[in-house]
Amino acid sequence: MFQSKPGLMEEIRNRFAQVDSCPVQGKRIFFENAGGALTLKSVVETSQHYAAVPDNQGRDNVASHELVRVISEARDNAKLFLGASSGQVFTGESGTELLFRMISNAVLETEAGGNVVGTTLEHPASRSAAQRWAKVANKEYLPVIHNDETGTVEAEDYAKVVTPDTRVATILHTSPVTGMGVDVKAVSEAIRSISPDCYIIVDGIQHAAHGGLDIDSYNIDGYAISPYKVFSRHGYGMAWISDRLSALPHDSLIDGPEGNWELGTRDTGSYATFSNVVQYFEWLGESFTDSKDRRDKILSASKAIHAHEKVLTDAMLFGTGNLKGLADLDGVGIIGGINNPKREGLVAMTIDGIAAADIVTKLNAQGIRTHTRKADHYSGNILNPLGLDSCVRVSMCHYNTEEEVAEFLTAVRDMIADK
Ligand SMILES: Cc1ncc(COP(=O)(O)O)c(C=O)c1O
Repeated sequence: MFQSKPGLMEEIRNRFAQVDSCPVQGKRIFFENAGGALTLKSVVETSQHYAAVPDNQGRDNVASHELVRVISEARDNAKLFLGASSGQVFTGESGTELLFRMISNAVLETEAGGNVVGTTLEHPASRSAAQRWAKVANKEYLPVIHNDETGTVEAEDYAKVVTPDTRVATILHTSPVTGMGVDVKAVSEAIRSISPDCYIIVDGIQHAAHGGLDIDSYNIDGYAISPYKVFSRHGYGMAWISDRLSALPHDSLIDGPEGNWELGTRDTGSYATFSNVVQYFEWLGESFTDSKDRRDKILSASKAIHAHEKVLTDAMLFGTGNLKGLADLDGVGIIGGINNPKREGLVAMTIDGIAAADIVTKLNAQGIRTHTRKADHYSGNILNPLGLDSCVRVSMCHYNTEEEVAEFLTAVRDMIADK
């Protein structure tokens, strides 16, 4: 995709820190983006700038006023990125913590009785929060079983489980194990057709880096992201909540500002780095649209990202140059099926006769970073029903190249030949 725009790939890669080398290992290919995407250089600079600022928000001095302005601007930028014209954006400890906070408040503060619905596809962050708080609030937890073959879940699957007294439902936007997306709008419509007032909370943590977020169209109440998985940095999570979720009782200071879901002093630098992320999407979009509208630019960037990631995953599955793809290599298994239109930049694989952990170690030795997913509390929900104790997760982002995929395929081919 980006290859059709001469020089663009170099410009993209030049905007990211440690794009082809690791300070510990040296030269390496980064296919561990689902564990934490590369960081924008602008984010690194912004973080350094704000780390030096001693001032706090809410004081009457110019420095403090500037911090408040930067936070407010970043919240607006985040809403633009998320496609949310109402509700509010706030930050917390991590994506997990924010999912727990949104889900616990929704479960505790909705009408007594009824049930909470979630899926077996979900990361334990939302599953654990929903099950724990359903128990505390004496509500039943009803699981929707995902489809093992496609590695995702459909609106019809939810429709079979949701009841008119489903108070809260959780949705995973994209699985970090199978890499497959979920049609959040269709699922939310299915839920609301049965339980119109249900509070719907979405885990968008794995999806965000792949772009195209459009909260206004989803008709949901909460959406969590982890900025380090979308080109910002570690140390904070970000959530969007609807006006009606904002208004529910929640932990807050007595007589504090109404609707404030933040607890304690904010890190202005974290907010400012999210503005860097949004600016990056806008910059990228300018290569794909003449529109001056910021949202148009973000959506154009997202389309281009999606198209390029498809080029990468197709190359990995079906081959590139004279290299065979994973689908044609002996003994390679692909989770979620080979031809799956729901795939978002990720291929989860096994090789007969080589343990996943050994594949990851061998790839590491050749400077190719991937990750083992074990059938533990993170991924057992996906791997156990498939009868797998582990798999290798190869997760890409739009700054990865076909040349990197070719190096990976060469390494896998040789590994199979040496078996
Ligand atoms: C889909 C999903 N949800 C939740 C999490 C947890 O995110 P964090 O560790 O940032 O809280 C992850 C992390 O991998 C994830 O991929």
